[in-house]
Amino acid sequence: MSLLSDIVGDLKVPVERDPAARGYLDVILSYPGFHAVTAHRIIHEIDKLGLPLLPRLLANIVRFATGIEIHPAAQIGKRFFIDHGMGVLIGATAIVGDDVTLYKGVTLGGTSLGQGKRHPTIGNDVVIGTNASVLGAITIGDGSRIGAGSVVVRDVPPRSTVVGIPGRIVLLDGKPIASSQTLVDMPDPQALVIQQLAERIAALEAKLAERGVPPAARAPQINPAIFDDAFPAI
Ligand SMILES: CC(C)(COP(=O)(O)OP(=O)(O)OC[C@H]1O[C@@H](n2cnc3c(N)ncnc32)[C@H](O)[C@@H]1OP(=O)(O)O)[C@@H](O)C(=O)NCCC(=O)NCCS
Repeated sequence: MSLLSDIVGDLKVPVERDPAARGYLDVILSYPGFHAVTAHRIIHEIDKLGLPLLPRLLANIVRFATGIEIHPAAQIGKRFFIDHGMGVLIGATAIVGDDVTLYKGVTLGGTSLGQGKRHPTIGNDVVIGTNASVLGAITIGDGSRIGAGSVVVRDVPPRSTVVGIPGRIVLLDGKPIASSQTLVDMPDPQALVIQQLAERIAALEAKLAERGVPPAARAPQINPAIFDDAFPAI
């Protein structure tokens, strides 16, 4: 009964969340995301029985038919919607909350070869944009949105909007935050080069000033605050 109500829940969401959906029959006939999630719900029940090989074989057939790979052991919440779907990968220890939407090419992948929890936990009401990669045993907080093409390898607080590589929080509760907050301590080589150029220009300007060249005769001044905003300290 629970399985059937979960499938009915999955059937309703594309009609609610996808303006292109033309009704339930359209979803049943032409939504690979719905096909893959429905199949996964059945395969997951078979997997829980402890049968060897069969769940993986069935999941592989579904992958062949839909381009969506969901490991039989992955735990999926209610009203799950994979839009378009091709290239989606959901790993074995991933946990997906309720009312989650994934677009094509999303990876919920692992970064370690250990046997334990190595895939993400996605909270409720999360949207993950096309080709985003969410990697490792991290948690994406409820109500968060991951931008298309982002790579996220650290926990994301609830109601955050994260974009870029590495992922940076740009909105919190839908409001811009003062300067984008990087989620990882990773050097940004472009920012470092630009910073060095800015420092070199400042040194050259100081020399020109020493020689008495008036400011009007020099190149326009650079406001260092621009760099602070664009490339926050890492
Ligand atoms: C992340 C996302 C949810 C944010 O949407 P939003 O709330 O409308 O926010 P905004 O568009 O105002 O973006 C906020 C900032 O992040 C930037 N941004 C948005 N999405 C981005 C992305 N994917 N990569 C890099 N930067 C991005 C914007 O340029 C903006 O920066 P700015 O303030 O300097 O101009 C949305 O851009 C997104 O990527 N959605 C996924 C949609 C998708 O995958 N569709 C596929 C359909 S098949």
